[in-house]
Amino acid sequence: MSRLTKIALVAAVLALATFLVLMTNRAELAKLEVTKLPGRAAWQLPDRVVDALDLTPGDHVADVGAGDGFFVFHLADAVGPAGRVYAVEVEEEKVRELERRVREKGYENVEVVLGELGDPLLPDGAIDLVLLCNVYHHIEDRHDYFLRLQADLRSNGRVAVVEPRELGGWIGWIEPPGHSTPIEVLDDEMGAVGYRLVESFDFLPVQSFVIFTAARPGNGALVRSGHDVSSPRASDPPP
Ligand SMILES: C[S@@+](CC[C@H](N)C(=O)[O-])C[C@H]1O[C@@H](n2cnc3c(N)ncnc32)[C@H](O)[C@@H]1O
Repeated sequence: MSRLTKIALVAAVLALATFLVLMTNRAELAKLEVTKLPGRAAWQLPDRVVDALDLTPGDHVADVGAGDGFFVFHLADAVGPAGRVYAVEVEEEKVRELERRVREKGYENVEVVLGELGDPLLPDGAIDLVLLCNVYHHIEDRHDYFLRLQADLRSNGRVAVVEPRELGGWIGWIEPPGHSTPIEVLDDEMGAVGYRLVESFDFLPVQSFVIFTAARPGNGALVRSGHDVSSPRASDPPP
């Protein structure tokens, strides 16, 4: 057997072994949060995403499923001191860590909220934009969730969804199952509860990015979540 054949054989065996290890550990891979790896800004492009959200200083924004707060401070800078960012998390540990970081960074326009799995517990009729980045596929009963969310939106309120794309090809083999949502599915599911897809951006390399408006924002008759507007804006009319 020639030296070249031996090298090729070893390489093939190593490739097969790697493939088998990856395949048998797909469940573990699913737990690996790529969003926590260093260098995320290079592919997440937070400045471009926040730019595309077209926020106005003074806006009230919710980062639902804020995680470790990757977008929270970008959003807080965009809405400025007169605005407000609700960083919603369902995991208590993440809430405590977010609260610590908000204090440490001295942001007074960020409120960390311990949400429920079925309700972000946002103030009714108060939110200009909700961002869900890599969160949509985590929401269990999306029909009820997004129906309820309409009660939290102001008129012209929007919902932005950044969601992993199905990558296909060889990388599709190691992609954890259930971690992406095609735009058509987003459109169907959100359309079914009265949202309309109004913008779609394709500058993110591994995620889709779409924006919906709610047909009936702040519609108390639809579903009231029962939370008062805790922080009216300076521009709000007196009660
Ligand atoms: C993949 S992480 C994304 C975190 C963050 N958005 C980011 O892009 O860095 C998903 C987050 O959604 C949170 N989550 C899951 N279900 C949720 C729900 N029903 N409401 C709010 N957050 C939720 C999880 O606790 C987790 O922190």
